[in-house]
Amino acid sequence: MSDTGVDIAAIRQGWALVEGRAERVAADFYGMLFSRYPRVREMFPAAMDAQRDRLLRALTQVVLNLEDGAGLREYLGQLGRDHRKYGVLPEHYALLGTCLIGAMRANAGGAWTAAHTAAWAAAYDLIAGIMVEAAERDALTTPPCWEAEVVGHDLRADDLVVIHVRPSAPYPFQAGQYATLQTPHWPRVWRPYSIANPPRADNLLSFHVRVVPGGWVSTALAYHTRIGDTLLLGPPRGSMVLGPGGASHLLLVAGGTGLAPLKAIVEETAWMPDRPSVDLIHGVRLRKQAYDLPDLLRLRQRHGRMRFVLAVSDDPAHGPRESVADAVARHRVDAGGEVFVCGSPGMVRASTERLLGLGVPPQRIHTESVDPSGLVLPPVSPYSRR
Ligand SMILES: Cc1cc2nc3c(=O)[nH]c(=O)nc-3n(C[C@H](O)[C@H](O)[C@H](O)COP(=O)(O)OP(=O)(O)OC[C@H]3O[C@@H](n4cnc5c(N)ncnc54)[C@H](O)[C@@H]3O)c2cc1C
Ligand code: HEM
Repeated sequence: MSDTGVDIAAIRQGWALVEGRAERVAADFYGMLFSRYPRVREMFPAAMDAQRDRLLRALTQVVLNLEDGAGLREYLGQLGRDHRKYGVLPEHYALLGTCLIGAMRANAGGAWTAAHTAAWAAAYDLIAGIMVEAAERDALTTPPCWEAEVVGHDLRADDLVVIHVRPSAPYPFQAGQYATLQTPHWPRVWRPYSIANPPRADNLLSFHVRVVPGGWVSTALAYHTRIGDTLLLGPPRGSMVLGPGGASHLLLVAGGTGLAPLKAIVEETAWMPDRPSVDLIHGVRLRKQAYDLPDLLRLRQRHGRMRFVLAVSDDPAHGPRESVADAVARHRVDAGGEVFVCGSPGMVRASTERLLGLGVPPQRIHTESVDPSGLVLPPVSPYSRR
């Protein structure tokens, strides 16, 4: 038993029975959920083929990592608040739990026991309880999502747009967090984008969006969104924020649009009288992808204690070539510093490995835990990410 009172061994045994049939479990889970409770289907995107197992994968990851504790409660609280935007109500949680266990039992080849059911039900109730409580508390003061008017649309390259929006009500968040966005072109399809500025008195938010060829939301934001359009914003999420202690030095390592939340963090510190010194490394493949240089140079001037390195990895016209991880390796890592890394899952993994190899303590390295499909998972220690 863990100190959560959940029988972790029985949870793992149960999962081991169905792990090889995870796709089948997902299909049965949604089959049961939507046939028994057809109204729930309306909360999900019309097309669910590609990412049909998102919810189930996240759910099983959370259950299997219940022991990790650190950060899990905060992650689940954010997730519960975020689920209000789908129209999820407290009573829906029990339905989902029943279907989850039913789908696992159906795929365990007769080996599923009452002990497996009891362990999974206890874990699920614990998780659902945290989500529901956070959602109910949030509902007293906060809307489930925000309408936000597009007030700026700056196509900086063929495949890169910077969008400025003004939410219709105050949008409380911390520098470094992200929001999910929905465009009118793709109802019920939400994607996370980092907020590229710290909170501002005028409530404006900026996003840096790189177009993924064929991607639904990024394409709509870049090519089919105009000033005056209305987007929907989910509540702020993410754990990549400055801690209360205040570091003396920040090393910020960005790949591509991973720059957005790190820029927000630099800007947040720019006005602090005892601000930390900052090293910001921005990695791009081609020199022309350095889409935010003028702004960064202005920020460096205003900050006064910021160093900026552009690492270009693959541009024959630009030498010397170096990846962000290379730039990290030849960089001074300050003993009193905190490190933030943001970019594609591969870039985050490579940079984190370099940092650990350079002796940076894992608790000093801050990232979002994102799996290769883009699903944000509960925070894990950089060691278990290796
Ligand atoms: C925490 C977080 C913060 C993020 N912040 C930003 C941000 O600030 N700016 C930004 O531009 N994006 C950001 N993303 C990525 C963003 O959420 C979307 O995944 C991305 O814009 C693609 O969405 P789409 O709807 O256009 O593509 P989809 O319709 O989801 O994808 C279309 C196809 O492209 C594949 N695909 C999806 N993403 C990629 C990718 N990155 N590279 C290659 N293939 C891909 C999919 O597997 C699918 O086959 C963030 C993601 C996370 C998890
Ligand atoms: C313990 C309970 C639950 C957990 C851990 C959970 C977790 C998740 C996660 C991680 C996602 C992926 C998107 C994201 O990161 O925001 C997701 C999506 C979603 N969840 Fe949940 N969820 C739970 C319960 C529910 C319930 C009860 C419902 C409604 C009946 C629900 C409806 C949805 C919907 C509609 C989506 C969007 C799916 C998509 O875009 O493809 N979830 N959930």
